[in-house]
Amino acid sequence: MSKSLFRKKSLDTILKDPHQETDHGHGGQGLKKVLTVKDLTSMGIAAVVGAGIFSTIGTAAFNGGPGISLLFIITAITCGFSALCYAEFASRVPIAGSAYTYAYVSFGELIAWIIGWALILEYAIGNIVVAISWSGYFNNLLEGFGVHLPAWLTTDPTTAKNAYAEVEAALRDGKVLDKSLLFAQEAWHSAPVIAGKHIFINVPAFVVVVLISILTFIGIKESKKTTNFLVIFKILVILFVIVVGFFFVNPGNWSPFLPNGFEGVLKGVSAVFYAYIGFDAISTTAEECKNPQRDLPRGMIYSLVICTVLYILITLVLTGMVPFTSLKVADPLAYVFELVGQDWISYIISISAVVATTSVLLVFQLGQPRIWMSMSRDGLLPQKFSKIHPKFQTPSFSTLMTGIIVAIPSLFMEIGLMTDLTSIGTLFAFVLVSGGVLTLPKVVNLKGEVQEGKFKLPYINGRFIIPILYAVFMFFMLDRVQAGLTNLTNEGLQEILFLLFVLLATTLTIATVVKQFNVIPILGVLFCAYLLIEIPALSWIYFFVWMGIGLIVYFAYGYWKSRLAK
Ligand code: ALA
Repeated sequence: MSKSLFRKKSLDTILKDPHQETDHGHGGQGLKKVLTVKDLTSMGIAAVVGAGIFSTIGTAAFNGGPGISLLFIITAITCGFSALCYAEFASRVPIAGSAYTYAYVSFGELIAWIIGWALILEYAIGNIVVAISWSGYFNNLLEGFGVHLPAWLTTDPTTAKNAYAEVEAALRDGKVLDKSLLFAQEAWHSAPVIAGKHIFINVPAFVVVVLISILTFIGIKESKKTTNFLVIFKILVILFVIVVGFFFVNPGNWSPFLPNGFEGVLKGVSAVFYAYIGFDAISTTAEECKNPQRDLPRGMIYSLVICTVLYILITLVLTGMVPFTSLKVADPLAYVFELVGQDWISYIISISAVVATTSVLLVFQLGQPRIWMSMSRDGLLPQKFSKIHPKFQTPSFSTLMTGIIVAIPSLFMEIGLMTDLTSIGTLFAFVLVSGGVLTLPKVVNLKGEVQEGKFKLPYINGRFIIPILYAVFMFFMLDRVQAGLTNLTNEGLQEILFLLFVLLATTLTIATVVKQFNVIPILGVLFCAYLLIEIPALSWIYFFVWMGIGLIVYFAYGYWKSRLAK
């Protein structure tokens, strides 16, 4: 059994016979090859710059202060290591499926399934967050035009209930209700009540997902053109915000740089990481690229570099314009310009946020079906999932399913937990892709030469670097390790996760010294794993439940139906 759990897809077969992968059972009907490096870079930026920088960054900056920009740098480095590993894989395994396929080649079927299941968190659940955030910005815009949708049609029940609890608390304390509390009160009282329950649904979030799903169903070319247009618009607005924002910066706001210490900064891990998610999504489109082996690595790296520069500048502007304590809002970028009296800029930002989040939705809505398509071709999901539409040449059934799975929860889910789950799922994939590079088998051609991909991960021997970094880390964390170990039986899940990380770091450091592993994948694994364990333990519990369901599905279906089983 354990042998079949780790059965691997052979790189050799994939490379020799890519048609076997693209045509599986569909009479030669493959996907349309239209994407170039420019499109891929644009899609990368489209997927990255969205709800993260326009919304979730607000609370992160409130907790971490100006020092949150450090977290943006650390996260960029982390993503950089992973992006290089993704690039190596993309150039060696040029078929759709992203981390799922890469894991199939390097770790075998069970891990591949686990990753595929975790990627649902990144794309489908991630898109629920984006849709909700889209709806928030869209409503702001409508309000600006004087159009008021009924509040009960624009939010989820949990958010409405929590907001109303705040109203009640304020009333109990005899406080005057501010604008947002008045709104919450009005929303609660105007909502229809069925069987004693106040009804709230987020209709705009639902509608936008439906519209985007239709676009991705109709075609990759149409999706590509729309993406390119959206990206140009959002980049121009962001550059404008940065340039104008610098004139309003008061350097005094950058001090103290770490008002709540590094701990405060670390509270923003999942929000900041969330803002970077997406560059990897383009690897799901490998079969629609003209030259995937050359262009995918470039697209991923270019988009990550561009977004990193933009993010660091934005964070500095944001925390420089106003005191960090005023940033705990859902639309921080628009808000800071309101605070400095530039309402017209804040208005442009709201439009841009709608555009930006639309483009993220679009790319994720493209990514998820292509992963399911790959899983189905491998027999791990029913064959329907790899059905390709005869006219539109898109994975039609999977696209439809993605639409349903994202659109319906968007109606009533709440955003916070979803962000954490998205970040856990993605970091998990990054850890395995980075680690997977170390096990990627060599492919030898007929002449007996080792075939390299078109992108080669630079080799830097980790024998000395990793132990030095390990020692530095342990020096700073010694107290936490000691406290954790002495109190082992009473530790909460968060500290146990931390101790597991220390164990992983120790093992990998020893392995690197012995096997002289490359620094890049090892740091990729360690940085991502560290960010992972900083995500709140409660979200981890949901994550375990999700993965448990995934394993049940695998053993009930994929394990028996896998093509490799036959
Ligand atoms: N990085 C994407 C966003 O921030 C997911 O919306």
